[in-house]
Amino acid sequence: MTIPKPAPRIQRFERLAYGMFIHWGLYSQLGKGEWIMHQESIPKAEYAKLKDSFTAEDFDGHKIAKLAKDAGMRYITITARHHDGFSLYDTCGLSDYDAVHSPAGRDLIADFIQGCRAEGIVPFFYHTTLDWYQDSFQDDFDTYLEYLRKSVELLCTNYGPIGGLWFDGNWSKPDADWQLDALYGVIRRYQPEAMIINNTGLEARGQVIHNEIDSVTFEQGRPRPMDRRGMPKYVSAEMCQTMNQHWGIGLRDFAYMSPRELIVNRAACRKVRANYLLNVGPTATGEIPAYEAATLLRVGEWVRLYGDLIYEGKPVPITGMGDDFALEYDGKVYLFIHNLSIQGDPNVIRMATGAGPRSFIGLDRKITKARWLDNDEKLDFAQDVESGLLVVNATRYPYGTNLVVRVAELT
Ligand code: GLC
Repeated sequence: MTIPKPAPRIQRFERLAYGMFIHWGLYSQLGKGEWIMHQESIPKAEYAKLKDSFTAEDFDGHKIAKLAKDAGMRYITITARHHDGFSLYDTCGLSDYDAVHSPAGRDLIADFIQGCRAEGIVPFFYHTTLDWYQDSFQDDFDTYLEYLRKSVELLCTNYGPIGGLWFDGNWSKPDADWQLDALYGVIRRYQPEAMIINNTGLEARGQVIHNEIDSVTFEQGRPRPMDRRGMPKYVSAEMCQTMNQHWGIGLRDFAYMSPRELIVNRAACRKVRANYLLNVGPTATGEIPAYEAATLLRVGEWVRLYGDLIYEGKPVPITGMGDDFALEYDGKVYLFIHNLSIQGDPNVIRMATGAGPRSFIGLDRKITKARWLDNDEKLDFAQDVESGLLVVNATRYPYGTNLVVRVAELT
């Protein structure tokens, strides 16, 4: 069975590799995550009052796009509208439940787009398909779907070329007819180069629900290698993840991931050529919390260390032990090695294990040299081309260093 070739837009998407997810909206003022309206059964009329205090005074599309760029990210997916039904964009009369009708008094998506253009970041729109605000979502589904299509049409026609639409919520009515041909048709008509993504949620990761879908999602879960043999078209994969337990800001959520965990995840996604969409939850007024920004920048330093490899590297049929894996880029093979220890006096370095031989199978070409990319140190190795076995003597990090995932280049 053959593996289909990716369309150019899908190839471009895969090369974006690393993106920022932004969950921001009225709920951010409550600081308890984006599901709070539903979770605490807040009556619609009461929740809607949050619109009257939504100033967005610290929301600066340019600053956000710059942070993403400095963090090594190439795209941003922002919640143009989340499940609470409030739109950050000008709905141009479709509804008054949007940013232009709040004290913010401006089209925040327009501001976001300007920032992205200035920094060379590709903008994507998250858009809910379910709606806790529109009565028609419950009472008159056809009318609701028409409203949804018109909303999407605005996003496709008012902001210039966009990277794609990222839908979320079809899981709320699994048996309904969402009229997807019509919805996706709007995008193909006005933005033929845009990606169409539909989040299949925590329960059904990696599923293609329609033939127009360009990428599957792995919400909060390591993407598995896609078996694309016999697929009618090549679809890419993306893992989205929040650093804590919430997507919208959780003021009392301290359970954050560390740069170490994010680097391991970053690498694990690329192992299967999946994109990594990492979330931030701006404050009530629209600023990315300092802690999140600092974490992103720290991970960005790691990404920069390996440069193009992180965006362009392709999976090869070479297997390592544990988390170790290999990628191919520009005709060379690169080994991604985890859990290495640091050199140092036993009185100062704890648990100095984790260096020594690392084996890989599946390497069918003769190599003459292996070296760490970060410090150029040459590594001893032994190889048996016939069986495809390679054993590299992975040395420790110099004292004061730990890259979490260290890359060796084979020549
Ligand atoms: C979920 C949640 C949602 C979040 C999304 C991000 O499906 O409903 O709040 O936006 O995942 O992946």
